Amino acid sequence: MVRLRTEADLPACEQLIRVVYDLDGYPGHWPRDLRAFLDGPTALAAWVAVSGDDVVGHVALQAESTAAVMNLATAVTGLPPDRLGVVARLFISPASRRQGVGSALLDTAEAYARSHHRHPILDVVTRFGAAITLYERRGWTRAGMVTHGIGDGVTLDEFVYVAAAGT
Ligand SMILES: CC(C)(COP(=O)(O)OP(=O)(O)OC[C@H]1O[C@@H](n2cnc3c(N)ncnc32)[C@H](O)[C@@H]1OP(=O)(O)O)[C@@H](O)C(=O)NCCC(=O)NCCS
Repeated sequence: MVRLRTEADLPACEQLIRVVYDLDGYPGHWPRDLRAFLDGPTALAAWVAVSGDDVVGHVALQAESTAAVMNLATAVTGLPPDRLGVVARLFISPASRRQGVGSALLDTAEAYARSHHRHPILDVVTRFGAAITLYERRGWTRAGMVTHGIGDGVTLDEFVYVAAAGT
């Protein structure tokens, strides 16, 4: 079941993202402030997937990503940044994968963005093949690639994806 995330869910979400990081290396760059990463000032809404009492997945919709991502998405869609919604922080418990949980969370964030007149976009580290397959299977198209500096001369390549036109 997918429902809106509450404050009380945040410790479980933090625990889950630690497990995902150890397994998959997501997020590509471990945040200095994990709570702010999950629940930062640009968050519009966030959801969890639950199985019984357990949080098994998470996704958020944000008003913005990095300037490079927003600029590329604006150029490709022709929409200003305040008409875009950034799907982010998608991660699923290893034991609950390939059961449609990621798809359900993605659909939820996408629907919320559209109902708030924001076209869904996202950025994904180029090595996250499972997520890229998921997005492409659900009709998202690759708009291009951006490279972020993440400190100490290290960079992270990300693809920017744009959801299909709404119905
Ligand atoms: C990517 C991720 C969110 C997918 O979640 P999920 O709940 O397993 O996704 P779904 O069950 O909805 O998968 C839907 C489709 O996506 C594709 N897919 C998902 N995982 C895949 C994988 N490991 N390999 C290939 N295709 C995959 C398949 O087409 C799948 O359909 P199928 O199972 O019928 O073949 C999950 O693997 C995850 O949390 N990964 C680590 C974190 C991450 O990379 N997040 C994305 C950040 S941008």
